[in-house]
Amino acid sequence: MDVGIIGGTGPAGRGLGLRLAAAGMSVGIGSRDPARAEAVVDEMTAVWSGRIEGELLGVGNEEAAGAGIVVLATPWEGAVHTVTELAGRLEHKVLVSMANALMREGREMLPLVHPRGSVAAAVQAALPRTKVSAAFHHLPAREMADLDSGLIADVLVCADDPEATTETMSLVERIEGLRPLDAGSLSQAAAIEAFTSVCVTLNIRHRAHSTLKLAGI
Ligand SMILES: NC(=O)c1ccc[n+]([C@@H]2O[C@H](COP(=O)([O-])OP(=O)(O)OC[C@H]3O[C@@H](n4cnc5c(N)ncnc54)[C@H](OP(=O)(O)O)[C@@H]3O)[C@@H](O)[C@H]2O)c1
Repeated sequence: MDVGIIGGTGPAGRGLGLRLAAAGMSVGIGSRDPARAEAVVDEMTAVWSGRIEGELLGVGNEEAAGAGIVVLATPWEGAVHTVTELAGRLEHKVLVSMANALMREGREMLPLVHPRGSVAAAVQAALPRTKVSAAFHHLPAREMADLDSGLIADVLVCADDPEATTETMSLVERIEGLRPLDAGSLSQAAAIEAFTSVCVTLNIRHRAHSTLKLAGI
C-alpha cells in the first residue's frame, strides 16, 4: 500500500484517495470499522473502476497507518486521540495532516484556535518520532471526488522535517492539476488551517467551489 488514509471514509479522504488511485497508486481507505471502509471502496469503484489505474483498498485505520506514507483525514476533534492509538505504526513515517479546526456560524465558517496553534502541531507533539506535515487543507472534497471536474489548485505544504516536506510534495505532484508549494515550517500550519475558513466562507457566499491558486510563483 503506497498511501494509507486514516479516516478515509469521509468526503475528504474519499476524494483524495480516488485521485491518488486514479494516478496509479495503491491506496488504503482507512476506517475505525474495516467493513465500512470496504463498503465505501465498493461504492467508489462502482462509479470509477474504469479510471482507477492503481488500486483502492478498504482497510482498518491500523492497516492504513502501515502504508508507505499516511494521511490523517479525521475531524480535528478526533485527530490526536486517533494517532496516539496508532503511534507505534506511525513511528519514523511521514504523516500528512489535512485536518482543519472550523466551526460554522450561519453563512460563515470560523477558525477555532487550537491550544497547540494548529491541529498539525498537536499531532506532531503527540507523535515526536513521526515526521508530520500539513497539506491538502483548501481542496474542496466534492471536486476531488469527481474525476471529471478539472481540478486546478495550489497545495500549501509545511513541515519541520525536510523529508516530510519532500515526500508530501511528491504525493501532491502525483495528482494532475495540483501544484505543491513549500510554505515553510510546521508553524505555518496555524495560518494555513485557519485560512480554510476564508476559502469555505467564500464558497458559501458565492455558491462556488473555488480552489486556491497563487499568482507570481
Ligand atoms: N470536506 C472537505 O472538503 C475537506 C477538504 C480539506 C480538508 N478537510 C479536512 O479533512 C478532515 C476530514 O474531512 P471530512 O469532511 O471527510 O470529515 P468527516 O466526514 O467528518 O470525517 C472523516 C472520517 O473520520 C472518521 N471519524 C469521524 N469522527 C471521528 C473521531 N472522533 N475519531 C476518529 N475518526 C473519526 C469517520 O470515519 P469512520 O467512521 O469510517 O472511522 C469519518 O468518515 C477534516 O479535518 C476536514 O477539516 C476537509
